[in-house]
Amino acid sequence: MDVFEAFRNRRSIRKYLDLPVEWDKIGSILDAGRLAPSSGNLQTWKFIAVRDLNKRKQLAEASAQQYWMEQAPVHIVIVGVFDKHLRFFGERGKNLYVIQDCAMAAMQMMLAAHALGLGSCFVSAINEERVGEIILIRGNARPMGILTIGYPAEQPKMPLRYRIENIVYLEVDAGRAYVQGYTPGRIADFDQSISNWRLAERGIKYVKQAAQDIDRITKEKRKGLLHKLIEKAKSGGKGKQQKEPGQK
Ligand SMILES: Cc1cc2nc3c(=O)[nH]c(=O)nc-3n(C[C@H](O)[C@H](O)[C@H](O)COP(=O)(O)O)c2cc1C
Repeated sequence: MDVFEAFRNRRSIRKYLDLPVEWDKIGSILDAGRLAPSSGNLQTWKFIAVRDLNKRKQLAEASAQQYWMEQAPVHIVIVGVFDKHLRFFGERGKNLYVIQDCAMAAMQMMLAAHALGLGSCFVSAINEERVGEIILIRGNARPMGILTIGYPAEQPKMPLRYRIENIVYLEVDAGRAYVQGYTPGRIADFDQSISNWRLAERGIKYVKQAAQDIDRITKEKRKGLLHKLIEKAKSGGKGKQQKEPGQK
């Protein structure tokens, strides 16, 4: 699956089919998390895969009673273990990097799930203490969120996203521009400012479509040719005879 297509089409899924998820798919999703970038490559996350219905019910209850979660046949609790972060990076490591690491892993797992035809939703409205009790974690560890996984039973539309010109600033301190409510460097017309970008995007779309069309037409033509050959064979090779030179 094209990665840009995945960015566009992945949705948070909150309705799931009553179907188990194949274990190898769960493994591939967990592996995508394992391969995520992490601060100082510390990789101190733990992924607790939960399939037990009773535990899933408890996790849903501990996630601000988001009972829809129970339907998802797999929950992956993403746990950040922060003692190494504290040692290597101090308070910033403990308070920020460990969260960012887990978010990166979560995103990779969501995209992997999508690529495998599965739906997912990242849930971080959780009671950390209660979730910690349910999955039995102790020490310098913190449950960051729960990823629900399963075959989707809904196809939500893309929720509104800001246009790119509302969030991108060029060559200015974007934070200052935002706070002061004044917007030097704001891109009023993204197409014009970075015209090649959208032009290229459109170009790629057209080329892809053209390649698909050519493929389809070629297949149709081949089918037609095969049909003609079969007809010719049936009629004992007396199809349309090629004229000899000079023959009328
Ligand atoms: C940090 C974070 C926390 C979230 N927590 C919840 C949650 O507790 N419950 C929920 O239903 N969705 C949760 N979501 C999913 C968002 O609601 C969802 O990503 C957003 O509405 C955009 O929809 P989309 O993912 O389909 O593009 C969370 C997403 C993020 C990134």
